[in-house]
Amino acid sequence: MNTLDAIKTRRSTRGFSDKQISDADLEAILFAGGQAAVGGADFKSLKLYAVQNPELLQAIDAASAKARPGSHPLYGAPTLVVLASKTSILPNIEFTNAGCIIQNMMLAATDLGIDSIYLWMSMFGINNDPELISRLGFPEGFTCVGTMALGYAAKDFPKLKAEEQRIEVTYIK
Ligand SMILES: Cc1cc2nc3c(=O)[nH]c(=O)nc-3n(C[C@H](O)[C@H](O)[C@H](O)COP(=O)(O)O)c2cc1C
Repeated sequence: MNTLDAIKTRRSTRGFSDKQISDADLEAILFAGGQAAVGGADFKSLKLYAVQNPELLQAIDAASAKARPGSHPLYGAPTLVVLASKTSILPNIEFTNAGCIIQNMMLAATDLGIDSIYLWMSMFGINNDPELISRLGFPEGFTCVGTMALGYAAKDFPKLKAEEQRIEVTYIK
């Protein structure tokens, strides 16, 4: 798949099957994350965690559902990639870095036929729960700045189509 096709076909999946992605695909997706543009090239301010332990996933899902009891903010995904950051050499750039890194990983996933979604809700779930932070193993000073779920869409999740331009553009020539 070429890059423009991956950009066009990536869509947020909100219902996953139990089928796990392969280790090789996970490694390729994490590699794509590590190739992202990062402000000041401060790669040391960032850490990626690939969570596939069902019990830990369930705990993150439950912690993230506190704002909406009964919901499942991880949508049953069998893999959650957690991005942690400490203050960068360029203050306040962390969430912009996260956008670049997670978008790279979602596009790599699309290229590999894997479904994904950028998740903000689980970031609060993790950051508000010291036990989760310690189970994830963040070093001192690191907090979660974004997460992304990976897997294969559940059979009953509607097939998502590519869309036309969704952001208004002004050309100034
Ligand atoms: C920074 C960021 C955080 C997001 N967090 C969530 C989330 O917590 N839960 C969710 O269901 N979707 C989340 N989304 C997905 C957006 O709702 C989705 O990208 C948007 O509706 C456009 O749909 P598309 O991704 O299918 O093109 C997030 C997207 C971004 C970029």
